[in-house]
Amino acid sequence: MGKFYITTAIDYANAAPHLGHAYEKVIADVFARWHRAQNDETFFLTGTDEHGAKIARAAEKAGSAPADFVAKHRQSFQDLLTTLNVSNDDFIYTADQKRHWPGAQKLWKKLVDAGDIYKATYKGLYCVGHEAFVTEKDLVGGICADHQQKPELIEEENYFFKLSKYTDRVRATIESGEFHILPEARKKEVLAFLDEGVGDISFSRPSKDISWGIPVPGDFEHTMYVWADALSNYISVLGYGRADEALFQKFWPADMHIIGKDILRFHAIYWPAMLMAADLSLPKALFVHGMILSSGKKMSKTIGNVIDPIEIVNEYGADAFRYFVMREIPLGEDGDFTRERFAAVYEGSLAHGIGNLVSRVSAMIAKNFPGGVVGELEDLGLPKKAFGDAMSAYALTEALSLLMRFFSSLDAYIQKNEPYRLVKTDVTRASAVLWNLAQYLRESRVFLEPFMPHTAHAINEIFEVSKEGRICAHIRGALFPSKKST
Ligand code: MSP
Repeated sequence: MGKFYITTAIDYANAAPHLGHAYEKVIADVFARWHRAQNDETFFLTGTDEHGAKIARAAEKAGSAPADFVAKHRQSFQDLLTTLNVSNDDFIYTADQKRHWPGAQKLWKKLVDAGDIYKATYKGLYCVGHEAFVTEKDLVGGICADHQQKPELIEEENYFFKLSKYTDRVRATIESGEFHILPEARKKEVLAFLDEGVGDISFSRPSKDISWGIPVPGDFEHTMYVWADALSNYISVLGYGRADEALFQKFWPADMHIIGKDILRFHAIYWPAMLMAADLSLPKALFVHGMILSSGKKMSKTIGNVIDPIEIVNEYGADAFRYFVMREIPLGEDGDFTRERFAAVYEGSLAHGIGNLVSRVSAMIAKNFPGGVVGELEDLGLPKKAFGDAMSAYALTEALSLLMRFFSSLDAYIQKNEPYRLVKTDVTRASAVLWNLAQYLRESRVFLEPFMPHTAHAINEIFEVSKEGRICAHIRGALFPSKKST
């Protein structure tokens, strides 16, 4: 028993959420729910990133005031969390002047106190899509390949953060594992990036150009760089910089930041350096997931292959979505999402898999044993230890596979023992077999809950245990109704 503070990246509130955003929330939710089940005092944070040029321009294009524009998209991200049954404990948004700004500004002042902020003229290329300065080597034919945009040439006076002062220390904490970057390939990528040499970074933009953001403390002619603003959400939410820092004292450092591989360097280099400068502890782990592709390509509005997670959930339910992304996309790697594959997995593993198993067992009990079944526990091999080990090793895909294999073994147990036949020949044995099945389904719900909370809850309601340990079954509609037969 301990504490567990987990965060997702905060999403840009410049458009409706897509599948990639939904994916990251589900990963974090699985970890958070598992830690709660282990009795860790858990704080799970997500939110929206609402400042900067990218957002200001999108608002302008939509003909809205930035504040109204972000509020509308923020709402759609919050709705997504409800739709996906995500159990976040808080939601931070960077336009929140009361809850977020004091922390961002306090952190800035700490960097100033450390002598790590200085003014200089910057000349370089800025990619608004990345909200970052880029160099020629980041471009293909002068264009940012990720955003299909030509970066803007900027020459202006900025505040800089002395990142170079900390890069050796950042490297040491990554190498020693004090700041754990996972998977290993991402850790290597960061170290290789550090090998190339990292200079100081521009940390503000002139307010006359970018006013949609947090004013630099003491110099309102400058707006904080959107990444300096956004990264501080992880501590501002806990009260850092506000009157009551109790949550900050309790939960910081984060036990795990979950992010996608496209924002690795901000979290693996800038963020720890900022924390070091402010003399704050570093997060313990940074878990980097891959990208969800749609028909083999990065989802993008231009390509027209964006998949709306809400649509999928409305059609198949939150648990089916959660199952698919956790099982079919090996955690840490990129994975493809197609509707065809989704439908096939839904039918095979859910409708005909666990859904069918639960309905068969409950129907046999309800029909033949209205007073409930009873028996003695047989060892059907619920992989408790292996599951826990996989979860501790962040191997969520593996943990879920173990569980699904266990459900298949329950199917095999039915085949072998034929309770549907036993009810006519040996009622005592039929009762014992069904009792074991129901008992194991009930026991497995602790392991299932992080991945498929609705299903775990339904199993709990379907099989009711009496004081004497008899199990009755209540018939419910199919957990995962087949889409084919209807
Ligand atoms: N606002 C920044 C993060 C600031 S964190 C202090 C940002 N926002 S984002 O909306 O572009 O991305 C939010 C998260 O979603 C990131 O971790 C990103 O990697 C993830 N994903 C965005 N598209 C994705 C996929 N197609 N697939 C999986 N994750 C994706 O970056």
